[in-house]
Amino acid sequence: MPRTPLIAGNWKMYLNRAEAVRLAAAVAAASQGLTDREVMIAPPFTALNAVAEAVRGTAVKVAGQNVGWEKEGAFTGEVSPPMLLDAGAEMVIIGHSERRQVFGEDNAMISLRLRAALQHGLAPILCVGETLTEREAGSTFTVVEEQLAQGLADVTAAQMGKTVIAYEPVWAIGTGKTASKEQAQEVHAFIRAVLSRFYEKTLAGRVRILYGGSVKAENVDSLMAQPDIDGVLVGGASLNAKAFERIIHFT
Ligand code: 13P
Repeated sequence: MPRTPLIAGNWKMYLNRAEAVRLAAAVAAASQGLTDREVMIAPPFTALNAVAEAVRGTAVKVAGQNVGWEKEGAFTGEVSPPMLLDAGAEMVIIGHSERRQVFGEDNAMISLRLRAALQHGLAPILCVGETLTEREAGSTFTVVEEQLAQGLADVTAAQMGKTVIAYEPVWAIGTGKTASKEQAQEVHAFIRAVLSRFYEKTLAGRVRILYGGSVKAENVDSLMAQPDIDGVLVGGASLNAKAFERIIHFT
């Protein structure tokens, strides 16, 4: 079963509302008429609703960059799944390495966020990936498998069908140092093998696995040519309309 490629932009903590709406309109224009791929953008929370309004009626999907696990309550700084839906998001990034590294989120917390997203009908993108120290110690597969096992704990097969995985080696994020297409493919194939141990093989074969880490206009084509790379999660280059347009139009 073919997997529809997903080209996703993570805007991180950049852009005010006017800038975000402008970029969203450019992304919508660049995506027009493309039926063989999906395009998603994740603005900061403050611009989420404005961006959702700007791309309404287009094929562009809007995502949150994180999500709280309770519906509401005394959780200062968190945004709940119903709030994300209300703002116009359909998807949400969970377990990004910046959340893990800078804000101390662990696999248990990420699992709570993931299950809450799914319960409320948001499609999650679960991010996994090793640090440079972990790669050099030869523990890439162990780390990634642990992140998958704990992150996907209690996720049913039906829910897994709506979940996207993103492999983002921490050493490749924002460093300009992309994983080689062979390095990325190796881990993507490993992730699919792990998923086919957790779920049925046919389901594992349907899950989209995105690559993230210094994806640019110049390297997207060769990454997307790999058999287990089903899309990209783009940081820096997604903030540049021209570069992201070229990435959307990968061949
Ligand atoms: P860069 O594309 O800037 O390396 O960021 C990748 C990323 O973290 C996407 O979520």
